[in-house]
Amino acid sequence: SQHLLHEAHTRIVSAQAITILTGAGISADSGVPTFRGADGLWRNFRAEELATPEAFEQDPLLVWEWYNWRRELIVTKQPNDAHHAVAALESRVNDFWLITQNVDGLHRTAGSTKLSEIHGNIWMVRCMACGAVTENHQVPLPLLPHCGQCGGLLRPHIVWFGESLQEEDLARCAKQLQICDVLLVIGTSGVVYPAAGFASIAKEAGAYVIEVNLDPTPQSDLVDIALHGRAKELVPLLLQASE
Ligand code: APR
Repeated sequence: SQHLLHEAHTRIVSAQAITILTGAGISADSGVPTFRGADGLWRNFRAEELATPEAFEQDPLLVWEWYNWRRELIVTKQPNDAHHAVAALESRVNDFWLITQNVDGLHRTAGSTKLSEIHGNIWMVRCMACGAVTENHQVPLPLLPHCGQCGGLLRPHIVWFGESLQEEDLARCAKQLQICDVLLVIGTSGVVYPAAGFASIAKEAGAYVIEVNLDPTPQSDLVDIALHGRAKELVPLLLQASE
């Protein structure tokens, strides 16, 4: 599909406004497990038992132990060429925004600054009492963690199942999906909303939609170009400055 890659690249280099949506697949090549793949996280753990407010309410220690395990897993991982290509594109485009569902922080490490981490960030903690959000890179985090300001119990600053996204993130996503000439969707299975609906929203608004994934997804039929392959190989080619 060299032809498709060339067509997609041409669309990207000529776009004035680009929005990129990423999922766990962009970090898979950095060794961060995805959620639903063959070796995905949800294979070993039932999300409902851990990534929910009810689970945290019932057993905060268990949930924090699971996040400490994920922090230990992620802390040694580095951004890959796909993260770096996305970060490098930011300054070359008139209007650029990155929407990521990933909580691993690898886009920030790669240098991305114009981004919304719509499911939160595993290196941020939030006080259940006063709401203060702070960075914390301790691996492992001593349990149970409490707020330096008010002593309240700290939780991961992550959007759990059954919780809504931050209003400012939703507003920013809506704006960037409306104005983008090109939406590039990288490494997401397209089953968790609202992100799963972003490709059709952008398409409705007139964007050219390109998908990069190992496999077909529920959005593959509506995108303009579906490229099948590894993000770390395809994304640098797609985002290179010129021929
Ligand atoms: N290159 C490109 N795509 C890949 C690669 C790779 N190297 N490896 C895996 N993929 C694709 C898979 O084919 C799959 O479509 O990445 C996608 C990963 O899907 P999920 O594991 O479901 O991850 P994601 O779509 O980000 O999950 C969305 O669900 O569990 C919640 O909040 C969590 O943010 C997460 C959300």
